[in-house]
Amino acid sequence: MGMVNVSNLKKTYGNFTAVNDISFEIDKGEIFGFLGPNGAGKTSTLNMIIGLSRPTAEEITVDGIDVKSQTKKAQAIMGIVPDESNLYNEMDGFDNLCFCAALYGMRKEEREPKARQLLEQFRLKDAGKRPFKAYSKGMRRKLTIAAALIHSPQVLFLDEPTTGIDVESSRQIRDMVLELKKKGTTIFLTTHYIEEAERICDRIAFIAEGQIVASGTVPQLMESISHDHAIQFVTDKNFESLPVELEALFKGNEVTIRPDHSLVMASEQRIPLFPVMEFFHNKEVEVYEARELRPSLEDVFVKLTGIESSVLKKDKEKGGH
Ligand SMILES: Nc1ncnc2c1ncn2[C@@H]1O[C@H](COP(=O)(O)OP(=O)(O)O)[C@@H](O)[C@H]1O
Ligand SMILES: [Mg+2]
Repeated sequence: MGMVNVSNLKKTYGNFTAVNDISFEIDKGEIFGFLGPNGAGKTSTLNMIIGLSRPTAEEITVDGIDVKSQTKKAQAIMGIVPDESNLYNEMDGFDNLCFCAALYGMRKEEREPKARQLLEQFRLKDAGKRPFKAYSKGMRRKLTIAAALIHSPQVLFLDEPTTGIDVESSRQIRDMVLELKKKGTTIFLTTHYIEEAERICDRIAFIAEGQIVASGTVPQLMESISHDHAIQFVTDKNFESLPVELEALFKGNEVTIRPDHSLVMASEQRIPLFPVMEFFHNKEVEVYEARELRPSLEDVFVKLTGIESSVLKKDKEKGGH
């Protein structure tokens, strides 16, 4: 049994189905990512798992605790970072953290050192005495995450943790997520950044129109589409006749010379290297490099979801979903 178990999760708003029969499991200590465009159903799914919105049909457990019937008990082991901050504008950073700690029932002598430690960890020490409303977007997001970690949760839920914030804060947040994983925290995050999902998630689910289209590790997702095999050769010289000769000799291959003078062989079948190298050798062409050209995760996403990557990259409008 996974740390988080979700089966046949469904959410409808009126007669619109936002989440349509989603099931997945997250193992303890794993970073699991939901990757999908604006409106795919990421926040709707997350809000049901954290007990903030009621599912239409479902089974959700976190560490074996049924979220629907034992919401408070389940939330006690969760850290929740919503897409919009839930902290108090008038309170300073330190007080916001202590206030959250109090909500979780932490004693005063635990609260203050933990708040100080988190401010330090998120490089917000100097901002600790400033009101939250004076924070930059990146600082706001970091303090929101710090607040979610105040009670050392076993499972952390992050809704688009790096959307719309500066590069440096984004990097700090990703590093922090990887640090938490090392300490055994289980993490569920949503994102519409392919590179982010690829870089930090152990497993990724592609989500579109309320459904999981595909899920797995990056290599598994790569394997799931059939693609051409292509090998790029970097050589000391090329002749114009090479592509024609290679195509005649190795049937089913398409050979092109790229503007950088490298030569690319593509085929539906795998390409055995030795005969090709022998061919080059006989032509007195020296090969310095031969590497397989693989599709990117972006190519896989586009192929499996039918969603153009430009749609995914379009930053969501401010506010709302
Ligand atoms: N409270 C709501 N009432 C009606 N429709 C909603 C509500 N919340 C979300 N939706 C719709 O459900 C779909 C999924 O939204 P959401 O879960 O916020 O997607 P994401 O987080 O992936 O951007 C969208 O089409 C959105 O407009
Ligand atoms: Mg969302």
